Amino acid sequence: MSDRYPEQALTQASAQTPANTPVTTRKHGRIAVFQVDHPPVNAFSHGVRAGLLAAFQSALADDSVDAMVIACAGRTFIAGADIREFGQPMLPPLAGDVIDAIAKSTKPVVAALHGTTLGGGFELSMACQFRVAASATRVGLPEVKLGILPGSGGTQRLPRLIGVPAALRMIVTGEPIDANRAFELGAVDAVVEGNVIEAAVRFAEQVLARGTPPRLQGDAPVACTDPEVFEKAAADVRREQPGVEAPLACIRAVRFACEMPLADGLREEYALCMTLMDSAQSRALRYLFAAERQAMKVDGLPSDPATWPVRRIDRVGVVGAGTTGTSVAAALIQAGVPIVLLGRDDSVAALHDCDLVIEAIDETLDGTQALFRRLDGICKPGAMLVSTTSTLNIDRLADAVTRPDSVAGLPFFATAQEGRLVEVVRTSRTDKAVVATLMQFAKRLGKAPIVSVAGNGSIATRLRAASLSAEHSARTRGNDHTISNDETQSRYLLAIVNEGARLLDEGIAARPSDIDVAAVYGLGFPAHVGGPMYHAETLKQG
Ligand code: CAA
Repeated sequence: MSDRYPEQALTQASAQTPANTPVTTRKHGRIAVFQVDHPPVNAFSHGVRAGLLAAFQSALADDSVDAMVIACAGRTFIAGADIREFGQPMLPPLAGDVIDAIAKSTKPVVAALHGTTLGGGFELSMACQFRVAASATRVGLPEVKLGILPGSGGTQRLPRLIGVPAALRMIVTGEPIDANRAFELGAVDAVVEGNVIEAAVRFAEQVLARGTPPRLQGDAPVACTDPEVFEKAAADVRREQPGVEAPLACIRAVRFACEMPLADGLREEYALCMTLMDSAQSRALRYLFAAERQAMKVDGLPSDPATWPVRRIDRVGVVGAGTTGTSVAAALIQAGVPIVLLGRDDSVAALHDCDLVIEAIDETLDGTQALFRRLDGICKPGAMLVSTTSTLNIDRLADAVTRPDSVAGLPFFATAQEGRLVEVVRTSRTDKAVVATLMQFAKRLGKAPIVSVAGNGSIATRLRAASLSAEHSARTRGNDHTISNDETQSRYLLAIVNEGARLLDEGIAARPSDIDVAAVYGLGFPAHVGGPMYHAETLKQG
C-alpha cells in the first residue's frame, strides 16, 4: 500500500463493495473480468476507483480466481482522471492507491484496452502485468495539456516499459500513439481485431497455461540514458514554449525514474503533480478544456451531441482552388472525407450530388452571391451551402438562394490543415440541424468549433483586427515615447477584451469562453493563460 495517503482512509474505503458501483465482476472459468461502466468516457472517478479496488481485493482473496482482466464498457477504456474532481479534496482511494495495489498483485492482471486509453487509464494499465489492445486504440498521457504531469505512476512506469527517449516524447508532448506503435515500442503486449475482452481472457488463459511467473516491471531499473537527453528536451521546451511550466516538470519527473527506485520516484512524481495542480497555469488550461466542451452546448440543440438531429455528409464539394480552398480540401482528405475540388470558374455541375458545398473563392459579395445562386440551382434538396468567408455577412448569402435554411458560414483560421479553430456562423434562418451537422463535421476534422451569429465579421476576425490595431498604435506611440513591453501587452489584452465584450453585446458570441477558444485556437493567444477573457478576469480578481 502506498504511503502517500492515510492508510485508515483507504482501508475504510476498500472494506466493502460500494453500492451502485460502476464496476461489475463476471467469471470466465478461473478468470475474473472486471468491467467499468461509467459513461461517457469511463473517467477514473471516485466510484470507479472504489469499485475497482473492492473488486480486485475480493478476486485476490478468492481461491477460485487465478487471473484477472480489467475492461471497460462503452466507447473507451478509462480516459483518465475525472477532471471534475480536480481542485477539490480527493476522496480515497486515490488513483495511486488502486494502481499500487494492482501493481503488486500476486495473480496476473491483464488490461483490455480500447478507445482512448489516456492519463490515469493508461497509468492503471501500465501497472497491470499485461496489456491487450483493440487495433483502433490510442494510448497516451495528455496531462501536460492540463498543466500537470501523470501523477499516478506514468512518468515512472512508461520509461521502464519503452525507454527514456520515447517516454519523454509522449509525456512532454501529451500526444497519444496508436496501438501498433504502442506494440512496436513495447507499451502493449498484443494488438487484436474483434472483441478485446475475449482476447484478453484468452491471453490470461495462455499466461496461466504457461505458468509464467508474475512480471513486476517496477523491479526493473530504467536503462539510463545520458543526461543530455533531459537537458536537450528542457532546452527545446524553453525555446518553443517559453514560460510554460508543466513540460519542464514532466522532464524532471521522468528523470526521477532514472535516479531513484520506483517507490521513491512515485512519491516524488505525486508531490510534483500536486504542486502543478495548484498552479495558475493548470487552472487556466483546465478552464480551456472545459471551454472547448462548453462550446458544444449550442442554443436550440440538446445538450448531448450524440442526440443532435444531423444531415448526412458523404460527399463534399469545395469551390475555389486558392490557398483556402486547397487547404480545406487537404484537411478533408486527411480526415478521409470524399471530395470534389473545383476552381472558381469551373462548371459547378459536378457538385449536383454533394451533401455539402464549401465556397472558398474569396470574392466580393456580388461574386459570392452569384456562385451561391448557381449552386442553389444544381445542388440536390437538403444539400448545405457554406462559405469560408470571414468578412461577408452570411445573411446576405442566404438572401441569394431558395434554401436559406441550408446556408451557413464556416471560416477556418490559419490554414484549414493546421489551425484548430472553426467557426460555424448561423443566421436566424439556418436550420438547427445544419448547425449541428457542421459542428460535428468540424469535430470529425479534429477541430475546435464554436458557433457565432452572422453579423459584422466573425469572432476571430474581429479579435484579430482589434489586436492588430492595438499593435499598430503601440508601434506608432513607441516612436514618440518609449513604452514598456508590459504596457504594450496590457494594451493588446485590453483591445482584445474590449472587442470580446462588443461581440457579446452584439450577440455574435454566445459566451466569454467561446471568445477564449477563438483567441487561443484562432489567434495563437497562449493557452496557459486560458484566453483573454479568462486572463482579464483573473487579473481583476488579483
Ligand atoms: N473527466 C471528466 N469528464 C471528461 C473527461 C475526464 N477525464 N474526459 C472527457 N470528459 C467529458 C467531457 O467533458 C464531455 O462532457 P460533456 O458531454 O458533459 O461536455 C464528455 O466527457 C465527452 O468528451 P468529449 O466531448 O471531449 O468527447 P470526445 O469523444 O471528443 O473525446 C476524449 C473523448 C478523447 C476522452 C477527450 O474527452 C479527452 O481528451 N479527455 C481528456 C483526457 C485527459 O486529459 N485525461 C487525463 C486526465 S488527467 C489524469 O488522468 C491525471 C493524473 O494522472 C493525475
